[in-house]
Order: sequence, then structure tokens, then C-alpha cells
Amino acid sequence: MIERPRGTRDFLPEEMRRRRFVERKMRESVERWGYEEIKTPTFEHLDLFTLKSGEDIVDEIYSFEDKGGRKLALRPELTAPVIRFYVNELQNEPKPLRFYYFDDCFRYERPQKGRFREFWQFGIELIGGRRDLANFEMITLSVDILRNIGLGKFDLHVGDVSLLKKAVSSQRDDLDEEKERKIFRLMDKKDEEGLKTYLAEIGIDAENLSFLMNVSGNQRFVSTSDPIEEAKRIFGDIDEIKQLSTLLGLLNAYEIYPKIDLSIARGLDYYTGIVFEIYAEEGLGAQRQICGGGEYDLIELFGGREERSRGFAFGFDRIMEVLKIEKEEENRIMVISTDDCRREGIKVARKLRKKFKVELDVMGRSLKSQLSYANSKGVKKVVIVGKREVEGNFYTLKDMDSGEQISCGEEELLEICQR
Ligand code: HAM
Repeated sequence: MIERPRGTRDFLPEEMRRRRFVERKMRESVERWGYEEIKTPTFEHLDLFTLKSGEDIVDEIYSFEDKGGRKLALRPELTAPVIRFYVNELQNEPKPLRFYYFDDCFRYERPQKGRFREFWQFGIELIGGRRDLANFEMITLSVDILRNIGLGKFDLHVGDVSLLKKAVSSQRDDLDEEKERKIFRLMDKKDEEGLKTYLAEIGIDAENLSFLMNVSGNQRFVSTSDPIEEAKRIFGDIDEIKQLSTLLGLLNAYEIYPKIDLSIARGLDYYTGIVFEIYAEEGLGAQRQICGGGEYDLIELFGGREERSRGFAFGFDRIMEVLKIEKEEENRIMVISTDDCRREGIKVARKLRKKFKVELDVMGRSLKSQLSYANSKGVKKVVIVGKREVEGNFYTLKDMDSGEQISCGEEELLEICQR
């Protein structure tokens, strides 16, 4: 027997129904904000992902050589592909460009609850726009989506990686990019012990950075511990803090009250400004992060003209784990007939199928066993087309819940099936 690869999943119809239901709601939400779907290939040149992050990232990527000796990778995320597409073909389009996507991504990670090797992201990229307004739209849209799909309990954290970078690089003049990256990765993993050890190793006093963990708070409680005031005390009244403060004002107008969290480092290396993460309050264990995003610079790196961009992606699978969805009642109909009446059965099925979900027997079973199959599959109504019905020119309709059976003509049949 061949098993499926580690970190991948199979989905049964019931689960696929739930997933499609949530996907539809997400699409509806973003389309209401003017976002349009785009699609990029499942695999790209490996360079697309290593250009910013360095070769280290290859350990976390499914990469391979094709028969022509090209180094390729299954996409670990969709921001770099979307920006490649933009630089290749879309730079001259009027701004802003509002794109969304829903696709699978692949990461060579240690699988655990909420962490897979193939997983789905629902995300957006917003290219162009004034910083405060575009950042407001990005964060508000993510919250709007969660509200629309009925996920009410979550924590929204907003930070700014440029402040984090400032704080870290002020500790040592000669801090190279690799060391900085390592510090951010440890921060991103919230690995406090690992961070302390590493800082000690490279000669930075962890105490000097511990304030980053403290500059957090809930905007609603602007009093003694106003995080913006605290950040101003540390960094001075600089432009980044003004941006953050303006953004919070706009978000509050939409009744969104994030937690300021300057320790957000993000796992990917392309972020340069405002960043945010959303955590589920319950149901996921360690992998609680259901959404991540922010402002990033990739366009110039890929050879394009300077333009600001930002976006986010939901971990769709994690959302499915925390979301409780009522099972939808389905109006499933089955037309059952035997060989001598098969043609009449097919004819009525064709008419009913214009409006309803209709199944036919493909097993060549007796009427009795077709009925018991219908029962076992949760079919709501069965239309019986037997010899008696064909000769009498009527249909027998059986309600599977009540067991009630009636004889009716075509018009009545269509009308009752509607209920
Ligand atoms: P990310 O934080 O790496 O960001 O991934 C986004 C979300 O995907 C995470 O918050 C998490 O919910 C989910 N996720 C990540 N890895 C896994 C996994 N192995 N299994 C299940 N779910 C996972 C990005 O990928 C950025 N491209 C987001 C973005 C868009 N930034 C700007 N635009």
C-alpha cells in the first residue's frame, strides 16, 4: 500500500464542502473591496525565493532540478510570485493594483497540528498607494474577512520591522545581515531562551532589547501605558511612530483595536515597515498564527520601478480548524428505476437536474436496495419510476425523513422537490 507523503492530507467530501463554503465567503469579502483574483504557477525558479532570503531558505523549500538542469522550487508562499508577475507584465497598469489569490503552498517543515508541508493560503497584495491609507486598507480587510466568515475571537498585533531593525542595529555597529536575520528569526519564533543565548554569543546585552517585548499594549487602554508614547520615549518622535499612530487612528475609526507589538519580526525577510499578525484565541495549540503580512520591498529587487506594496495571507487550514460551521442541510434527490423503466427514469432526472442535485443508480440494483442506498447517503427525496408508475403515467415521491409517499404528476413533482 502506498501512503500519502508526510505533511500532506486527503480531504473527504464533507470537509471539502466546509472548505469551499469558507473559500466562497472569503472571495465575496475581498471582491467587495475591489480585489481581483490572479494565478501564478505552482513552481518557479528557485532564485525567486533565495534572492532576498539567501541560501538558508533552501532547507525549508521543496526544490529540485528539472530534466533541463534548471533549479526550480514549489512555491513556499505567493508574495514573491505575484510581484514577479507584476514586474514582468503589469508595471504600467494604473495604481493601485488589488490582487487576491487562493492556492496551495509547500514548505519542508516538521509537520504538527496546524503545520503542514502542503497548505493553502488565501491572501492579497496591494500595489501602490499612500502608506497610511493602504496600510489601513490591508489590515481592515483582513479583519473584515474574519468577521464575514464568522470567526469572532482573535488577537490582532501590529508592529513595525523598521523600528525593530533600528533597535537591533543600534546595539552594535558591525552587525551584519546574517546576524540580524538570525535575531529576527528567533524573535519570530518567540524563542526567548534561544534569543538570549544568541545575543550573549554575539556580545549584545539582552536587557537592552527586552523593552521590545514590553512595548505592547491594547490601544483601547490609552492611559499610563500608551504604547505609542512609550515607543516615542525610546525612539524619539520619528516618522515611523507618526505612521503607526496615524494608522491606529484610522483603524479605531473602523472599530479595530490592535495590540501594538514591536517584537513582530515575521519569518520572511522582505518586510520593511508596518507588519501585522493575527492569532486565533483557541483551538490551535502552538500554531496559533492564522494570518501574517505587512509592507515589503521586492519590486526593485526583481528589477522593477520603485513602488510600495503590502499584503497578507491567511493560513486557510488553520482557519478551518478553529472555525465552527453548522452542517448545511442538502436537498439531495435520487431517481430510482429498474431496467424496464430506465428511460423514463433518465428523462425525469434530466428535467429535475435543471434545478436540483439529482443522482441516478449506476449499480443496476433492485428498487429496494436503491432505496436503502439512498437512505444511507442522507438523500432527502426519492422519485420512484417503476412499472406501475410508467403504466399509470405518474411518479411516486418518497420523503425519506417522514417515510411519507405520494403519487404526483410532473408539475407537482417539481413543485414539491423545491421544498
Ligand atoms: P507567512 O506568515 O509565512 O506569510 O504565512 C501566512 C500564513 O500561512 C501564516 O500566518 C500561517 O497561518 C500559514 N502557514 C504558514 N506556514 C504554514 C504551514 N506549514 N502549515 C499551515 N499553515 C501555514 C507569508 O507567506 C506572506 N507571503 C504573507 C504576505 C502576503 N505578506 C505580504 N503579502
